[in-house]
Amino acid sequence: MKILIIGATSAIAKATARIYAERGQELFLIARNEEKLDALSADLTVRGAQRVGHAVVDLNKYRDHGKAIDAAFDFLATIDIALICHGSLPDQDASEINFKLAEREINTNGLSVISLLTILSPKLKQQGNGTIAVITSVAGDRGRASNFVYGAAKSMVSAYLQGMRGKLFPHKVHMVDIRPGLVDSPMTAHLKKGLLWSSPESIANKIVAGIAAGKHTLYAPGYWRVIMFVVRLIPEFIFKRLKF
Ligand SMILES: NC(=O)c1ccc[n+]([C@@H]2O[C@H](COP(=O)([O-])OP(=O)(O)OC[C@H]3O[C@@H](n4cnc5c(N)ncnc54)[C@H](OP(=O)(O)O)[C@@H]3O)[C@@H](O)[C@H]2O)c1
Repeated sequence: MKILIIGATSAIAKATARIYAERGQELFLIARNEEKLDALSADLTVRGAQRVGHAVVDLNKYRDHGKAIDAAFDFLATIDIALICHGSLPDQDASEINFKLAEREINTNGLSVISLLTILSPKLKQQGNGTIAVITSVAGDRGRASNFVYGAAKSMVSAYLQGMRGKLFPHKVHMVDIRPGLVDSPMTAHLKKGLLWSSPESIANKIVAGIAAGKHTLYAPGYWRVIMFVVRLIPEFIFKRLKF
């Protein structure tokens, strides 16, 4: 299989790439840090990847997206799976009163993904097959006082994916919305960990299995589907009083 991973140096992306490498797949990686990309490419090659290529892009620079995706197609020729993983966890208090900050976070978590989808989707449509999988978040399921800049951006991507899934269905292109819960990664290094936390490796296993199974919305781990179902049921007059 030929796999494009965008935001490839994220902890969840790396763990996922390792599974594909161990299965002997061909990979093309896109991320912003060349040193990390070189190290990851070498690691994936040692683990058994058939071939590994990469491109360095700051994903908030939309004008560079087309060139990077062209490089991926030049390397792989066709793409079976495109997995979009990059993201950032905003400082909620700072970004809700500073539009420049909010804009940057919404760009990283929302609009940059939509830019990539507008480039990838016609190419996969033309191929007539393939899967585009995007890591969003359970945070997009309901706007919470503690995390709504991030939640709003992720929710935008989830709605976009849902619509695009219908649009691309007749063309045999599948869209997977991956919604992890709490994952112990560099993004959350500053947060206190508890029972509901997962490792990037366990999320990676669920991503690989979920893509292979053709899931639409993949809560990872699966119990987050139940948690978020309950969270969505809480009436707003109670929800607005909750501090989480
Ligand atoms: N951790 C969680 O609890 C959690 C929960 C739900 C969803 N998610 C989502 O899971 C995905 C992966 O996150 P993670 O947990 O694996 O965290 P992570 O290791 O901190 O990964 C975040 C990645 O995003 C990359 N990135 C940020 N801004 C970028 C930009 N402008 N251009 C290019 N790359 C950029 C970072 O690049 P560098 O490596 O160069 O810093 C980093 O590799 C994200 O979409 C995140 O929102 C995470």
